[in-house]
Amino acid sequence: MNTLQQAQDAVQLAAQKMNQRYRLGYHIMAPAQWINDPNGLIQYKGEYHAFYQHHPYDESWGPMHWGHVKSKDLVHWEHLPIALTPGNDYDKDGCFSGSAVDDNGQLTLIYTGHIYIDKKADTFYQTQNIAVSQDGVNFTKVVENAVIPEPPADSSHHFRDPKVWKHENNWYMILGNSTKDMVGRVILYRSTDLRQWDYIGVLAQSDGSLGFMWECPDFFELNGKHILLFSPQGMEKQGDLYNNLFQTGYLVGDYQYDTNHFTQTSSFTELDNGHDFYAVQTFLDEQSRRIAIGWMDMWESNMPTKADGWCGALTLPRVLTLSEDHKLLMNPVEELKTLRNAEYPALRNQTITTNYLVPTNEALLEIKAVFDLRNEQAVCLKIRGIREEETVLTYDYTTKKLILDCSKSGKTEDGIRTATLHVEHELTLQLFIDSSSIEVFANHGLATMTSRIYPTEERLGFEVAAGANVKELTYWTLNDIW
Ligand code: FRU
Repeated sequence: MNTLQQAQDAVQLAAQKMNQRYRLGYHIMAPAQWINDPNGLIQYKGEYHAFYQHHPYDESWGPMHWGHVKSKDLVHWEHLPIALTPGNDYDKDGCFSGSAVDDNGQLTLIYTGHIYIDKKADTFYQTQNIAVSQDGVNFTKVVENAVIPEPPADSSHHFRDPKVWKHENNWYMILGNSTKDMVGRVILYRSTDLRQWDYIGVLAQSDGSLGFMWECPDFFELNGKHILLFSPQGMEKQGDLYNNLFQTGYLVGDYQYDTNHFTQTSSFTELDNGHDFYAVQTFLDEQSRRIAIGWMDMWESNMPTKADGWCGALTLPRVLTLSEDHKLLMNPVEELKTLRNAEYPALRNQTITTNYLVPTNEALLEIKAVFDLRNEQAVCLKIRGIREEETVLTYDYTTKKLILDCSKSGKTEDGIRTATLHVEHELTLQLFIDSSSIEVFANHGLATMTSRIYPTEERLGFEVAAGANVKELTYWTLNDIW
């Protein structure tokens, strides 16, 4: 069994050898090597903590550890020592995804232990476990582990990703799961002490159209409704929908704790329509904001940074709100304004008759643009490389589609993603561009698109295509937090 110190040394050594070309400037990443899902998001003793699935010995997925960062403002993050290493009987082959709670001042991580029966055949079982910390840095696995050693009798071996929260005097835990015949579902447990758990039953289950396994569930109240967020595996692509290998989306409904009855009042909706957005988790901060962070990659996609000694990042933190028609809106947290360096007001009340280039070779940018669409103008913004490369964002007024085309920005195949967005008169775009990512927030979070891009050329700036009626366009160069 490798110790925490060995894992720590391995990642530090790898950090010294990394190629920096695609390193992100203001997103959460490990110092080096592989990461995937965000875990254990929490504001604890005033500070924000984020953990993540981490393989400190390699740039590809392997035995999962929990990496750890913290921040005072959700913008400037600091690396902390690895929080969890696998190796006990109940988590021998990995500390998989999970969540964090503040249990009377004790920071408590609840995570899945992964144990292979036969690694080659990918047969395994999964358990639920706990680790605690007094200082928010050093964690001890509790003697009661595994606190849930096996799934209910009608379950498959997929039994992972505990999300725990408190309601009145009880702790609740939901888990990603599937039935014996592989129907995706979320199941619920209850406890008074986080150690002894009672199985309550199924919270929600696929009607047959929502995949074979629901990973990384989350469940919370927003505006009087209950939102079940999860990442289903195995959904079929339908036109513009479900174009990634796996999805992250939500159901809106009503929930009664006394009967464990979740009544779904809306159909499954993807939370983001970009290429790289998965395994999203949320937490409630001290300002009562429901904040979501996702993994900014997708399983089995092209990951060129593996050649550089690292792979994987988390999205910017986004505030979730529920619109009147029960759609989840996502907007970047206000604090991200503190990343802004110089401000460049580029255009105001202008109809663009020939393509207009805003020159800048900066890689870290925020762009805010407001377009007037009263005369049904087309809108097209291109992030330009000096020769061939471009990342193109188009709004098509006729089809009401927002289209992100990354096929000329390092996504060689399958470069296009589309979101439906109903705009009457005005389109507002807020874009965060980093060395190897783009996050698009359209009309105040009504549609969002998150994708990794891997430009090879020097950047030239961004271009507004002829035909647009620009009310306002401002951009900021952003600071590198690392
Ligand atoms: C989601 C996931 C989780 C699992 C973890 C393993 O991306 O597959 O279900 O806990 O990653 O790293």
